[in-house]
Amino acid sequence: MMNTAACIFDLDGVIVDTARYHFLAWKRLTEQLGINFTEDDNERLKGVSRMTSLDIILEIGNLKLDESRKMEYAALKNSWYIDYISKMTPEEILPGCLELLKELKNANIRTAIGSASKNTPMILDRIGIREFFDAVADGNVVSKAKPNPEVFIKAAEMVGVDRRKCIVFEDAVAGVQAALNAGMICVGIGSPDVLTKAHFVISGLKEMNLTKLLTIEKEFGL
Ligand code: G6P
Ligand code: MG
Repeated sequence: MMNTAACIFDLDGVIVDTARYHFLAWKRLTEQLGINFTEDDNERLKGVSRMTSLDIILEIGNLKLDESRKMEYAALKNSWYIDYISKMTPEEILPGCLELLKELKNANIRTAIGSASKNTPMILDRIGIREFFDAVADGNVVSKAKPNPEVFIKAAEMVGVDRRKCIVFEDAVAGVQAALNAGMICVGIGSPDVLTKAHFVISGLKEMNLTKLLTIEKEFGL
């Protein structure tokens, strides 16, 4: 019997690799604005909301724009991003994800999404994974961007679970910090050199199963 009551999953970079599509869409915008934007710069945008991402890009390009212009550009980037994600298929679900979700369901552990993305519903529909989640907390229901813990706290509330009994899966530095700020255990997805604050780091969900989760909850006193 596990103590973990819910597992909360970030979407981009954990369940699907949409960072590539975000990059291509931002790249198109920066080319139009004459800003030199690299894949390294793109790392800083992971887990960060759309408007904050634009602010970071404008800071890189040393460009100041008024609010209405910013809204216009953010909308333009999003229309290009939607072109990409509207073509996504279930094959794009990252390895190990479905297997883990099924294991959690069998063990009666709640599952939720905790993502900053306002496009979460469209992505979940395209990849056909919506039914695997008991709740979806995303950019449409929260306003404070990670590292603020709001989205994870909301997810715990939506599945009716004490937040101290949640484990978060996150690939972004801001997201790991958000999980810690929510008082949750965080499993980082990516490199331990980058996700230094995560309780435990794996390269992808294919490395996670119930037995490992049990070890993690024991080690970190959940
Ligand atoms: C996720 C991604 C970010 C993205 C944010 C907002 O957190 O990691 O790169 O900026 O969602 O996404 P949206 O789809 O609302 O523009
Ligand atoms: Mg992410």
